[in-house]
This record gives sequence, structure tokens and C-alpha cells, in this order.
Amino acid sequence: MNGHQCMPAHTGDSPASLPGGYEPVVTRLIGRDAELAALRRLISRIRHEGTSVILRGEPGVGKSSVLQAAAAMGRDGNALVLEASGIESESMLPFAGLHQLLRPLLARPSSLPEVQQRALLTALGLRDGPAPQLFLIALAALTLIADTAATQPVVLVIDDVQWIDAPTNDVLAFISRRVRHDPIMMITALRDGHVSFKSGYKRRTFVSVLPAQDSHANPAVKIAAE
Ligand SMILES: Nc1ncnc2c1ncn2[C@@H]1O[C@H](COP(=O)(O)OP(=O)(O)OP(=O)(O)O)[C@@H](O)[C@H]1O
Ligand SMILES: [Mg+2]
Repeated sequence: MNGHQCMPAHTGDSPASLPGGYEPVVTRLIGRDAELAALRRLISRIRHEGTSVILRGEPGVGKSSVLQAAAAMGRDGNALVLEASGIESESMLPFAGLHQLLRPLLARPSSLPEVQQRALLTALGLRDGPAPQLFLIALAALTLIADTAATQPVVLVIDDVQWIDAPTNDVLAFISRRVRHDPIMMITALRDGHVSFKSGYKRRTFVSVLPAQDSHANPAVKIAAE
């Protein structure tokens, strides 16, 4: 992979050891300081402003690694991290991605209005009924996440968004356009060159993940705010 090496290392923020003699092994990413700093800054502001970030770059360049580092930062900041990952074999299964993302929340008692609750559970195959309107499903997903974020910031981490099923993609794009006033951060990773990817995401920030070893010739990160 692009000449990187993974080094087990302690991060400056982590305790050197844990009770019971357990030594945490933390993977340090090489040459990603700029990307991680940009994401850390956005995560640290989550209680003041929600945001949506798209990480994009070539296959194997390190998008998932940066995404996982961002997820870890979110957890360190006491955010609830919800994750989903597009999988080619599930890309034709409607709402498979949304099911993955919301699963931890579905186990909790719901405060959703009945009409939204019904729409969401029916879409996810957890309840019988006629096919609900996409708008109601998207609204229900947003309400569920925003209600959770009222007590604990939420970081949504979606990898390989180019393979997320189309209806989930529509729901995520809907949410991304509405997170600004809630402590919600959406971070999606997208492979360059996927014509099948249907955009519509509100992206306050684009982080282009470039090959880290090119960082002397090019900036390792290109960040464009909308
Ligand atoms: N900055 C880095 N330092 C060390 N190792 C890295 C770094 N970036 C990526 N790697 C390693 O390179 C490999 C590929 O990285 P990763 O899976 O994050 O790429 P990707 O862009 O998500 O690829 P894909 O497009 O296939 O999803 C992994 O083994 C990862 O651990
Ligand atoms: Mg990846």
C-alpha cells in the first residue's frame, strides 16, 4: 500500500498503560497530521456546530484509516459513534446501510412520533406494512439521531459510500443537509472515480486524502470548505 508502514505506538492522548497491566497498542498513521488535525478541529466544535465531511481519494490511499482515526477521536470526546460501511454485495439491498448505521439506536426506547416510527421500522423490515414514503424514513432517521445527540454528540462514520444502497444514500444526503444546528458530525469516505455515486450531500468540508508520501510535493491534505 503506497509505501506506508503501520507502527504500533502510544498516542500522546492515551494513557501509557491501563489497570491490570493491559498495554494499549495504538496504530499511528504516518503522514496524516494535517487530515487528523482538520478532523480533530471539527470534532472539537461538534457541540457548537454540526458538520458533514467527505473524505475522498484513490483506492488504498488511506481513507478508511483516517476515518477510523476520526471515529476514535469521536469516542475519546465522548461522542456516540455510529458506523456503516458500503458493501458491494449489499448495494442492491434497500436500507441495508441505514440498518447498519442505526442498529445501536433501535435497541433503545424510541421517542419517535408514531408515524415516523412506523415508517422507519417498516423500511428496515422490522414491522409489517405498506412501503413508507422516503421522506418519512429520512425524517425518522434524522429525528432518532438528533434526539440522541441532544444528550450525547453523535458522529456518523460511513465508509465506502460509493457502495451504500441508493435509498440509504438518499437518507444520508438528507441528514447531511440538516446537521448544522445539532451536535452531529457526519464523516463519509468516498473512492474517487465512482460514477455510480449519487451526490446531494451537503459537504461543509472536503478532505482529499492524497498519497501521504507525496506530502512534500503536494500538500497531504486539500481541504475545501463550502
Ligand atoms: N498513513 C498511514 N500510515 C500507515 N499505514 C497506513 C496509512 N494509511 C493507510 N495505511 C495502511 O494502508 C492500507 C490501506 O489503507 P486504507 O484501507 O485506509 O485505504 P482506503 O483508501 O480506505 O482503501 P480502499 O479505497 O480500498 O477502501 C491499510 O493496511 C492501512 O493500515
Ligand atoms: Mg477503505
